[in-house]
Amino acid sequence: MSNDPLKLTGNGHEVDLPVMEGSVGPKVIDIRKLYAQTDMFTFDPGFTSTASCESKITYIDGEKGELQYRGYPIEQLAADSDFMEVCYLLLFGELPTKAEKEKFVWDITHHTMLHEQLHRFFSGFRRDAHPMAIMVGVVGALAAFYHDSTEINDPHQRMVASYRLIAKIPTIAAMAYKYSVGQPFVYPSNDLSYAGNFLNMMFSVPSEDYKVNPILEEAMDLIFILHADHEQNASTSTVRLAGSSGANPFACIAAGIACLWGPAHGGANEACLNMLGEIGTVDRIPEFVARAKDKSDPFRLMGFGHRVYKNFDPRATVMRDTAHKVLKELGVDDPLFDVAMELEKIALEDPYFIEKKLYPNVDFYSGVILKAMGFPTEMFTVLFALARTSGWIAQWNEMIEDPTQKIGRPRQLFTGTPKRDYVELDER
Ligand code: SDX
Repeated sequence: MSNDPLKLTGNGHEVDLPVMEGSVGPKVIDIRKLYAQTDMFTFDPGFTSTASCESKITYIDGEKGELQYRGYPIEQLAADSDFMEVCYLLLFGELPTKAEKEKFVWDITHHTMLHEQLHRFFSGFRRDAHPMAIMVGVVGALAAFYHDSTEINDPHQRMVASYRLIAKIPTIAAMAYKYSVGQPFVYPSNDLSYAGNFLNMMFSVPSEDYKVNPILEEAMDLIFILHADHEQNASTSTVRLAGSSGANPFACIAAGIACLWGPAHGGANEACLNMLGEIGTVDRIPEFVARAKDKSDPFRLMGFGHRVYKNFDPRATVMRDTAHKVLKELGVDDPLFDVAMELEKIALEDPYFIEKKLYPNVDFYSGVILKAMGFPTEMFTVLFALARTSGWIAQWNEMIEDPTQKIGRPRQLFTGTPKRDYVELDER
C-alpha cells in the first residue's frame, strides 16, 4: 500500500487529500486544507477518528493491547525500570546512561521542597475539601511563586519548570492529604527514593520513626510507571490545548489535573473502588452487571472499557499481578479484591462485554492496591495525577518545540437559530 492521496468526491467537490504514514500505527488523512478546498468541516465529536498531533512519545495498539513509552513495552519498563528513569525517557526520548540518571535523580531530588509561603495556601481550604480540588488550586498557583520558569519560549525555563513540576507534585499531593487529616506537613527527605520520599511525606508523623516498607515502595514506583503517559487521552489533550495558547506550564498541568478528575477518566479508580464497595459481596455482582447493560440505567462498570483498548489494557494485567503480590505480602485479605476478581471473570464471559470489547482498564485494580497500601479513596486520582504529570509535561514540551504548532481552535456544526432581528420587550 502506497501513500497515494485519498480522493474525496461528492457534494460538488473532488479533492485529493494527502495521506501521511507514521513509523507505526494507522495512517492519517491530512485534512488541513479541506475547509479551504470544500468550504466544509469534518465532524468528529469526542475525536474518535481524529489525530490531533504528531508525537514520538507514547504508542498504543488498542486491538493488540500494547503500550510503549518511546518504543519500550510497558511490561518491560514495569519489570526492569523505575519511575525516575521513565520520567527521563518520556522527557528526553532515550533511556539515561548511569551518569545521566544519577544527575537527573539528584536534580529532581533537590527540587522537591515548596516555597514556604505555599504552606499557608492550604489553610484557605476546608479540611474536607477533595484533594483533587486542592491539587488544581495549588499547582495552578505555582505560577505565582516560580516566575523565573514561566517564559515558554526559553528552553532553559521550560526544563526548569518541567523539573519543578515532576519534583514538587508528590510534595503537594502529600500535603493535600496531611491537611485533610489535620496532621503536620512532612518535608521531603533527600536520602529517600522518589516513591519512598512520597510514602514518607504521606504516612510519617513527627512523634515516631517511620521506615519505608520496601514492598510498598516498589509497588508505588510501579504504579507511577504504569500511569506515567498514555498518548492523547482527555487530560493530555487538555494540557496540549491549554499550552497551545501560550499559557505557562503550571496553568497547563493544573488544567490537566482538572480534566483527569472526571469519573470517565482518572476519577474512575476512586469510582471503581466505591462501586466494588457498593457491590459488597460476590452474590450481588449479577445485579450490577445487569444494570451496566441496561441502556435506561446510567450506571457503568467503573474500571471497564476504554476508548482505545479493545483488548486487555496491558497496565491492568500488570496491576492485577501486583495486587495479588501486595495483598499477599501485606497479609491483607480484602473481600473487595475477591469481588473484583469475580466481577472480571463474569464480565469477560458476558456476551454484552464480549461484543462491545469491554475489558478491565488501568483503574480496575489500582484501587484495591492503593487501599491495601493505606491510601484513602479520595487520594487515588491524586496519585494518578502525580504520575501523569511526567507524561503531561513531556507532551507539553513536545508541543511547544513543534515548529508547526499553532493555537488549537476547533470549529462546529451549528444547528441553532439562524440570524434574526431583536424584538423589543413590549412586542414579545
Ligand atoms: C482512563 O484515554 C485514555 O487513555 C484514558 C486512560 C489514560 O491512561 O489516560 O487510559 C485512563 O481514563 C481509563 C478509563 C477509565 N474510565 C472508566 O473506567 C469509566 C467506565 N468506562 C466508560 O465510561 C467508558 O468505557 C470510557 C469512557 C472509558 C470509554 O468510553 P467511549 O470510548 O466513549 O465508549 P462508549 O462510551 O461509546 O462505549 C461504547 C459502548 C456503549 O454502548 P453502546 O452505546 O454502543 O450501546 O460500550 C458501552 C457503552 O454504553 N460501555 C459500557 C462501559 N463502557 C462502555 N457499558 C458498561 N460499562 C462500561 N464501563
